[in-house]
Amino acid sequence: MVQALDRERTAGGRERAADGRERTVDDRERTADRLLRSTAARSYDPELDVDWSAPPVEGKHYLPEHRCSLYGTGLWQRLTPEQRLELGKHEIASVAGFGIWLETLLMRLLAKLAYEGDPLTRHIQYALAEMAEECRHSTMFARLIEWMGTPRYAPPAGVHALGRLLPTLAHGPAMWGAILIGEELTDRYQREMVDDDSIQPVIRMVNKIHIMEEARHIGFARAELTRCAAALPRAELAWQRGLLGRVALIVSRNLISPEVYRPVGLDPREARRVALANPAHHETVRYGGEKIVAFLRDAGMIGPPATRLWRRSHLLP
Ligand SMILES: [Fe+2]
Ligand SMILES: [Fe+2]
Repeated sequence: MVQALDRERTAGGRERAADGRERTVDDRERTADRLLRSTAARSYDPELDVDWSAPPVEGKHYLPEHRCSLYGTGLWQRLTPEQRLELGKHEIASVAGFGIWLETLLMRLLAKLAYEGDPLTRHIQYALAEMAEECRHSTMFARLIEWMGTPRYAPPAGVHALGRLLPTLAHGPAMWGAILIGEELTDRYQREMVDDDSIQPVIRMVNKIHIMEEARHIGFARAELTRCAAALPRAELAWQRGLLGRVALIVSRNLISPEVYRPVGLDPREARRVALANPAHHETVRYGGEKIVAFLRDAGMIGPPATRLWRRSHLLP
């Protein structure tokens, strides 16, 4: 890989590859080249770097209490401290299960890019490197769910079926935006937890790995989105915004499965209704989306006809 990266640079922003061909080294290639170097220098193997044999630490949380979907509600007041901790564990398991679904879709989107592109370019090589990381992340999240001993939570059948269509429907800025919504929301919560000593050490290590590797993915996707949005034909804008608004609503509504309430003795339908009306939960969703919403707004990707979808998701105040 090192040899492949050390191609001969020639004058005028061009490079000469080992096969003698010359091509323009543009910003896209430079960004991907830098990210490939970073990937080679700093990556984790969750199989080895997380101590899966360590038992949970008595009394430590799995999720900060103020990020629980029922925090501050009447139902929350009725839960014992042990039930609150248990609910946090199941909510993290739900986010991890939903994360696996999202990452599998993301891998399909990256595979589509690689299928259509030139594997001798740095940006396609970086897409392949990112797929390799997402493969390891999904295994890591599956191991985390096993370690916590919770059920496997997954999106409902309808969302699962819709997900099958995404790689066909999504392209351009909506594709990169969909990737970023998934990546940046979870990144925000993980950054809040990684230095919190009251959180289980295994969770914090998983967060540390994911934060470091996702920083590259987010940088790549943001650069790709900016490039695609600038080239987007005006006639396509409404469709792209509509698709992205739909993704935003699906992500915000499905991170927490209603089934997480059952193990703490709550009725899933009632608890779900309370969570969806909970201002503290709305604030958690808004906090998760704060940075990506600002970025997508600046890129012109949030607006009519999808503004209502963004409002319903609580990502947009
Ligand atoms: Fe990931
Ligand atoms: Fe990622």
